[in-house]
This record gives sequence, C-alpha cells and structure tokens, in this order.
Amino acid sequence: MLTGKVVVLGVTGGIAAYKSAELVRLLVREGASVHVVMTRSAREFVAPLTFQTLSMNPVHCDLFNLIEEQEIGHISLADRADLFVIAPATANVVGKLACGIADDLLTTTVMATRAPVLLAPAMNVNMYRNPIYRENAEKLLRHGYLFVEPARGMLACGWEGEGRLQDPAVICEEVISALARKDLRGEKVLVTAGPTREELDPIRYISNHSSGRMGYAIARAARRRGAEVVLVSGPVCLEPPCGVETVHVTSAGEMREAALGAFADATIVVKAAAVADYRPEGRAAAKIKKREASLNLKLVKNPDILAEMGLAKGDRYLVGFAAETVALEENAAKKLAAKNLDMVVANDVSQEGAGFGAETNIVKILCSDGSVEDLPLMAKERLADAILDRVVERVAQKRAGRNG
Ligand code: CTP
Repeated sequence: MLTGKVVVLGVTGGIAAYKSAELVRLLVREGASVHVVMTRSAREFVAPLTFQTLSMNPVHCDLFNLIEEQEIGHISLADRADLFVIAPATANVVGKLACGIADDLLTTTVMATRAPVLLAPAMNVNMYRNPIYRENAEKLLRHGYLFVEPARGMLACGWEGEGRLQDPAVICEEVISALARKDLRGEKVLVTAGPTREELDPIRYISNHSSGRMGYAIARAARRRGAEVVLVSGPVCLEPPCGVETVHVTSAGEMREAALGAFADATIVVKAAAVADYRPEGRAAAKIKKREASLNLKLVKNPDILAEMGLAKGDRYLVGFAAETVALEENAAKKLAAKNLDMVVANDVSQEGAGFGAETNIVKILCSDGSVEDLPLMAKERLADAILDRVVERVAQKRAGRNG
C-alpha cells in the first residue's frame, strides 16, 4: 500500500519511543521507504541503531552534520517526504510546532516540508488535558496537521487515562489513509462480509467457508478513500478495520436486519457476504441426540437481502458478489439482472487462488451497462481498490447521466 512512498518518521523523547520501532517495521512491510529523524531526548530511550536496522536507512539526528548535510540535508528530507509522521509526539514537540520553533533537525525539517504531517501524541494524562497542550493541538489541526489520538489505559507514569501512544498498527493505517486518494469522500458505503451461521441446536450450525477477507478489505479501502463505512459482518476471525463502524451478526436474519438498517443512509452498497441460502426450519432447544442411522433436516429459504435491496435501490449504487463453480459469466449475469444490481463481482470459487478463505482472488466484473472485465489474480487488498476504482468511475457516470 505504501510502495514508492517516502515516509519520514520523527521520534521524540517519550517512553513510547520503543513502540515506534514496530511502526517502522509495519511501514517497511507496506513498502514505504522510511527515514527516521530522532530528537536528542528520543536517543535517551532508544538507540538509533534499532531504527537504522529496521528502516535500512541511516538515522538522522543532528541539524549540523556536515557529511549528512551534503548527502541528504534536512531540506532534501523535507522535500522528498510524501508524509511526515511523528510518533510518539510529546507535548514539547506539539508546542514547538504550534509556535513555529525550529531548533533541532526534526522541527526544522517539519517546518520546511510541504508534505502532510501526522502526529501521534503520547504523554501523561494531565499534560494531555492541559489547556495549553489543547490549544497547541487545536492550532495545528486548524493548520491541517493530522492527529492519531492516543488511547486510554495505564500510563508509564502510573496514572490511568488517555495518553498512551496509539497501537503502531493503527498509526500505520492512518499513514496509509492519509496518503490515499479521497475519491469516496462524502459517500456512505455499506459493506457486508463473512458467512452467516444458521443454528440447528445449541451447539451446531450450518455455515460456509467464507473468511470475510474480501469484504473487510473493501470496507478498509473505502474508509481509506474517504468514505464513511458501515460493515455488517458475520462471524470471522478478523480485526475490525480501523475507523469503520462494524456491526457483528450471526445469522442471515440478523444480517438482514442490520444491513437494511444501514441501507437507508447508504449511497453505495457492496454485498460481499456469503449469506446462507437456507436455515433449519426450527432450532432445537436441546442438543439433537444421535439415534437413527440417518437424520433428515428440513431447511427453509432465507430472505435474499440483496434482492430486497435491489427492489428498494433508489439512487444507490448496488454491488453484489457471485460465488460460482460453473458457468461463471452466465450465472453472474442472471444475478445482475434478477437482483437489479449495478455491478456484480463474480468469482469461480473452485479455481486455485480464488474465493473463500484464500488471500487472493480472480474475478470477472459485470456491469449493468453490459461491460464484462476479467481481472487477473491479485491479493484481496489490491482487488478491493480495483473494485472501488470501477465503482467510483461508474457512480460518477450514473450521476452524470441522471443530471444530464
Ligand atoms: N445474497 C444475499 N442474501 C442471500 C443470498 C445471497 O444478500 N440470502 C447476496 C450475496 O451477499 C451476494 C449475492 O447475493 O452478493 C449472490 O450470492 P450467491 O451466494 O453467489 O448467490 P445466490 O443469490 O445465493 O444464488 P445461488 O446460491 O443459487 O448461486
């Protein structure tokens, strides 16, 4: 997600400085070229060698280092950065930036950059609540600085409250989000993901192999691109995406209720969930005991949530998925028409590298304008963006057509 991006990480002197080592690892894993600038007090907490080893780049510490100045220089670092992230950002550095004080390499470089600056404050709870800190932070916010607010919890100083440096994974997500194009700003995107479970008795259920990865990747990507996102998720083993309102459900009935609830406000709907088509006619109150050689289960049809949404579509852009094992295009085209969809993302789940549980997918995209596009095998994270690229384009066309 950060391939080709230059991220300058400023580390200031707080006990949370050790957590920034993990942030470097995550940024590098996302493909970023990471350059670390440490203040003098940061070096009291963590040795520059740690950051140098993890970032695979020299760590910058001094404002007047003649060799460094010649080779890279603070202005060059300021110019090359796609984004600055300061983690942890102490009350001191926030105060200096708010007042335009540039008395070390980090503050000088930040003052000289035109790149977005993301601050991840970490400090004692009373410093965090101090009106002087608040004023400084608000001033920086007004000037377009971005913040990842600290978490609540036990603080190193013994106090409990807000002030803990956010989880490095959350900061990394905010870096990705800050660098993403915001072509879904103003949109309210509803995504459904994962399987549903239909209970037979208190300990057994009918379900499917959906991992939820595709839907989660779409929800995450839509949020990065500026949308307000509601994710209705069946039972999966995934962390809810940062900044996404996630509603957990179990059965198709519960998914229907939650999804239709969020549908009213949605401008774009992506139904990636693998909803169980049938449920047991009745749920046994007690465990079904083993008796005869065979057992017949009577199943009844679940409501088709997407078809219901198709009937009430209005101006919304509706995307469905089609999981098939035979006649992919033909079956997907039928679903597109039958459910009144704008787009269908069809995948042959019997193919190697596609469908349920896999990290990758191979899909065909069919749209109501008659277009059919084959996408190559790609990671679900990348595919999520590829799908949203097409959604953004088609939504604009649809709205232009309506207004024209
Ligand atoms: N879907 C839904 N409610 C259901 C069944 C499916 O909203 N009860 C949605 C899925 O989220 C997906 C699309 O409909 O976006 C197609 O789902 P799929 O399982 O591929 O097809 P079905 O419509 O269930 O038809 P079939 O199982 O016969 O292929």
